[in-house]
Amino acid sequence: MVLVAGATGKTGQWVVRRLQHYGIPVRVLVRSAEKASVFGSGVEVAVGHVQNKGEIAAAVKGCDAVISALGSSSFFGEASPQEVDRDGVIRLADEASKAGVRHFAMVSSIAVTRWYHPLNLFAGVLSMKYAAEEHVRSVFSRENRSYTIVRPGGLKDGEPLQFRLHVDEGDRIWNGWINRSDVAELLVASLWLDSAKNKTFEVINEAEEYQESLAQYYGKLSH
Ligand SMILES: NC(=O)c1ccc[n+]([C@@H]2O[C@H](COP(=O)([O-])OP(=O)(O)OC[C@H]3O[C@@H](n4cnc5c(N)ncnc54)[C@H](OP(=O)(O)O)[C@@H]3O)[C@@H](O)[C@H]2O)c1
Repeated sequence: MVLVAGATGKTGQWVVRRLQHYGIPVRVLVRSAEKASVFGSGVEVAVGHVQNKGEIAAAVKGCDAVISALGSSSFFGEASPQEVDRDGVIRLADEASKAGVRHFAMVSSIAVTRWYHPLNLFAGVLSMKYAAEEHVRSVFSRENRSYTIVRPGGLKDGEPLQFRLHVDEGDRIWNGWINRSDVAELLVASLWLDSAKNKTFEVINEAEEYQESLAQYYGKLSH
């Protein structure tokens, strides 16, 4: 069972679809039960906010892995970068770890290590994401645990597997685009690929070219 946090978001919905494509049981953590109706009857629904430890604990119970596609959408309040991108993800990782979840995969962003990047003018969003990354790396690099952190360029809509990708490590990419569906595919593939375990990497489109699978890109990362 895989819990998807941020499942009602644009990337999160793709994560759910790709999990279903591979026949993997899905539970979603959603703020509004009403919004979860888009998923149909095959998906378990846990209603909760990332501010609420008890709700997160109930959502992660019995899950083998967690995929976070959470993202902030306002300067202040419960959807702010501090509340969602940093503290929400940290709380989710802590509750998942306590519940015995083995793998934690998350969406972050290119440029998270650059405090001086203009995007940080949005309530320090990149720095908040970086703080969450650091926490996830520390908690999920322990024995019998693993993490995968995907740092995409700008996100676009569209079908998966339509682009050859470029991956890099060390936060050296300044711009570029990638489809949310490919980010979702990379997150889902991290569940079973050994080459994806304990990796943090950047990813953008390189050229339009159909891809059979995205597994090969994990093979390009340092071991
Ligand atoms: N846009 C870009 O170009 C870009 C580039 C690089 C990285 N990213 C990052 O990629 C990630 C995915 O982006 P996206 O565009 O797919 O995001 P999105 O559509 O805005 O989805 C964000 C999700 O987070 C959920 N959420 C927000 N506050 C929450 C709370 N307090 N408790 C529980 N859930 C909460 C939202 O729930 P509701 O549906 O209830 O609102 C939604 O499901 C984000 O972290 C984003 O910052 C974006």
